[in-house]
Amino acid sequence: MAILLVLFYIFVCCPVVIIASSTPADTFRAEDNFLINCGPDSKPELIEGRTFKTGSEYLKTKSDSQITCSDNVPSPIYKSAKVFPEEATYSFTLKQPGYHWLRLHFYAMKDDKYDLHQSTFSVSANEIVLLHNFKINNNSVPTLKEYLINMKDPTLNLKFSPMKDSFAFINAIEVVSVPNNLVNDEGSALFPVNKFSGLTEQNYQVVYRLNMGGPLITPRNDTLGRIWIPDDNYLEEKNFAKATSIAPDGVHYSKSITPLIAPPMVYATVIEMADANIKLPNFNVSWKLDVDKSFDYLLRMHFCDIVSKTANSLYFNVYINEKMAISALDLSAVTDGLAYPYYRDTVVNASLINDGLLIQIGPLNQGTGAVNAILNGLEVMKMSNSVGSLDGEFGAEEGGLGMSQKGTVAAIGFVMMFGAFVGLGAMVYKWKKRPKDWQKRNSFSSWLLPLHAGDNSFLSKNSASQKSNFNTSGLGRYFSLAELQEATKNFDSSEIIGVGGFGNVYLGTIDDGIKVAVKRGNPQSEQGITEFQTEIQMLSKLRHRHLVSMIGYCDENSEMILVYEYMSNGPFRDHLYGKNLPPLSWKQRLEICIGAARGLHYLHTGTAQGIIHRDVKTTNILLDDAFVAKVADFGLSKDTPMGQNHVSTAVKGSFGYLDPEYFKRQQLTEKSDVYSFGVVLLESLCARPAINPQLPREQVNLAEWAMQWKRKDLLEKVIDPQLVGSINPESMKKFAEAAEKCLLEYGVDRPSMGDVLWNLEYALQLQEAFTARKSEDETNPLNTATTQTPIVVPSTTSLPTDNSRSVEGPADVPTINDHSGTAVFAQFQSLDGR
Ligand SMILES: *[C@@H]1O[C@H](CO)[C@@H](O)[C@H](O)[C@H]1NC(C)=O
Ligand SMILES: *[C@@H]1O[C@H](CO)[C@@H](O)[C@H](O)[C@H]1NC(C)=O
Ligand SMILES: *[C@@H]1O[C@H](CO)[C@@H](O)[C@H](O)[C@H]1NC(C)=O
Ligand SMILES: *[C@@H]1O[C@H](CO)[C@@H](O)[C@H](O)[C@H]1NC(C)=O
Repeated sequence: MAILLVLFYIFVCCPVVIIASSTPADTFRAEDNFLINCGPDSKPELIEGRTFKTGSEYLKTKSDSQITCSDNVPSPIYKSAKVFPEEATYSFTLKQPGYHWLRLHFYAMKDDKYDLHQSTFSVSANEIVLLHNFKINNNSVPTLKEYLINMKDPTLNLKFSPMKDSFAFINAIEVVSVPNNLVNDEGSALFPVNKFSGLTEQNYQVVYRLNMGGPLITPRNDTLGRIWIPDDNYLEEKNFAKATSIAPDGVHYSKSITPLIAPPMVYATVIEMADANIKLPNFNVSWKLDVDKSFDYLLRMHFCDIVSKTANSLYFNVYINEKMAISALDLSAVTDGLAYPYYRDTVVNASLINDGLLIQIGPLNQGTGAVNAILNGLEVMKMSNSVGSLDGEFGAEEGGLGMSQKGTVAAIGFVMMFGAFVGLGAMVYKWKKRPKDWQKRNSFSSWLLPLHAGDNSFLSKNSASQKSNFNTSGLGRYFSLAELQEATKNFDSSEIIGVGGFGNVYLGTIDDGIKVAVKRGNPQSEQGITEFQTEIQMLSKLRHRHLVSMIGYCDENSEMILVYEYMSNGPFRDHLYGKNLPPLSWKQRLEICIGAARGLHYLHTGTAQGIIHRDVKTTNILLDDAFVAKVADFGLSKDTPMGQNHVSTAVKGSFGYLDPEYFKRQQLTEKSDVYSFGVVLLESLCARPAINPQLPREQVNLAEWAMQWKRKDLLEKVIDPQLVGSINPESMKKFAEAAEKCLLEYGVDRPSMGDVLWNLEYALQLQEAFTARKSEDETNPLNTATTQTPIVVPSTTSLPTDNSRSVEGPADVPTINDHSGTAVFAQFQSLDGR
């Protein structure tokens, strides 16, 4: 019987569970949902769409003291309160572990027996101190204290402890499950800038939750029962700021950011810079928040670009307490497009707080994009301290060191008393574990360009290597900061040739006339110096004709500067559209695509562990003075761990090039690069951006649009008009087939870069034969008979999938066999040697 029941559960109930978990994420059902109106037993009250019931059954300590108030109160839950002259405990049995909201509502009333304003008491939740010697400081408004408590125990004991000769009280209590993805384990530390892990080991008190530029949002409009208040009272220099809004249904949520993270009303309203382009071009919009400066804080900043007209036009900085918190934030790069929400978690250490929290947003100084900056919402959460308290320091309030130490001892005693031995163990574990984790997770996460210790002529003067704090062998030339300052006219903004989240790229001149590109990491960017060094060491092992070469670097004064060869013809993209440069011939485009494919193929297969580029696009393919293509910016590269064929990682990369499978499963393989490369191929053929929001809806996404035409066999209708007439239809067909295979939905179905390369070589052969024929025809118009024979397109339309097999064209076409087979693979074998 019991077995039958179990089977019944598995077969009948489990599917239900699965269905429930795949329902839209904004319809969250809280497993635990205790809404308690603590007054005398009376009927349930419906407040803001939620029903508060009397919860006397949860009160484990007998207490008949209560107080009711007949005055006009802001909400029915404030009409009455339970009063505790002695210690009292509410005990809740939870169905689910993990984070829970714990909200305590207080409203100080007075009758002939009690004056609640006079009460002083402490409140704890299991081992966590929530309030210590707490006094209501404003009689006229209700007080809400809100906590996020990570429950490991199935029982939550909420204990009210009045001070001697005083009493405690409570009007209403909420204990509600929090969705799993609301608190992330990783954020970044403000200063020094670092990854910060272990956030899910913490307990929090929410001290501010602001809706920038928008109205008050009450639990009725927030599925999770949160309150978001307008930011006006905290905004400094109000005339610097402008509130902007869109209709809430214009906010596009994604799988990772759902309305549970913040409701649409938060993202649909924003504070931006007022008249940013007219007055002083450069200023910050600032908010000032009072906080208890003895605690660390977690700040969650919410962004949603509802102000820009086009993607990639807004770059701005965010500062907290005058430290760079986010440098050159480009929302288009981290979201799917305009009006897609985004948030960042930043930990502010108490040592950085002297006088509250100052949050500032300001434009990026360099004249790129719009001069503007935005913020949609802000949550400020106090983090529990090392003794598990969220309030007071057990004596720190009294000021003396002795008191404080006594307090700590008392606190530890307190913690032990509440059976938090496990908790303490966890704490120790957490602190030990953090730094290691940090290093592991960050080794290859940031902004470097591909590098190798390039041309030997640059390497001779390894002048100042003793200054460098890491081993320079094989890392290229060491530059002093002074040398690079001279080379770039002291990093003059007129020398900037590129801008990105990491910092700027400058054109420099060294050794009397050799042009170089100097990439200078923002010292406050997320990239730490250790990562920089690790990354140089890893990447300097890569050498290839089709990867941009590093010449040297500088790490003086914690600078993170890379010097690499200057690619005088700039990005491939500029030669395709947008810059009015002379159009490239089809042959040139093919050669560029082939070069880039070789560079990528080398990354994927030329090193022991294999490297995934992660951001393949036409702006990352640079051209030298001879139009040789070199792959640049491994900013997002991540090596594949040994023995694993994918890397699990947060979605990064550029909109329009992003592998849909990677996006869905967040698993990165070299096939993600293959997908992006497919988009590059289409861009070369059609000479338009991967995403163009200005076009009619069905044309916005190049990959979708071009593939529709390809399926109808009418691709020639949408190719670059410059190519019409000069492109061989067979060459185009071969090329388009390669692109189509690259863009297949599932990575396993896509070809390897080696296979793609084979097809591109073939397309080039077809084109060359065609051009030769054409010029022959022109000189000898009667000779048409021979034109049909030299090129035979193989009948198979599928791309070869086995990398190692020898590539054979039809036996009677030696030229094809020769070039696309042997030549290509001979090249691969010699890659390491170059
Ligand atoms: C109490 O709060 C009200 C409303 O926010 C405010 O007007 C009043 O100044 C506050 N009183 C004190 C003593 O802080
Ligand atoms: C809140 O929700 C109610 C209905 O549920 C709606 O009428 C109201 O406009 C919403 N308010 C805001 C600020 O979104
Ligand atoms: C904006 O604030 C930051 C940090 O406080 C400061 O360094 C910067 O100079 C400010 N920008 C302007 C234009 O005032
Ligand atoms: C804040 O800094 C202090 C010392 O600088 C350190 O002991 C503490 O762990 C830091 N807090 C956090 C949350 O990193």
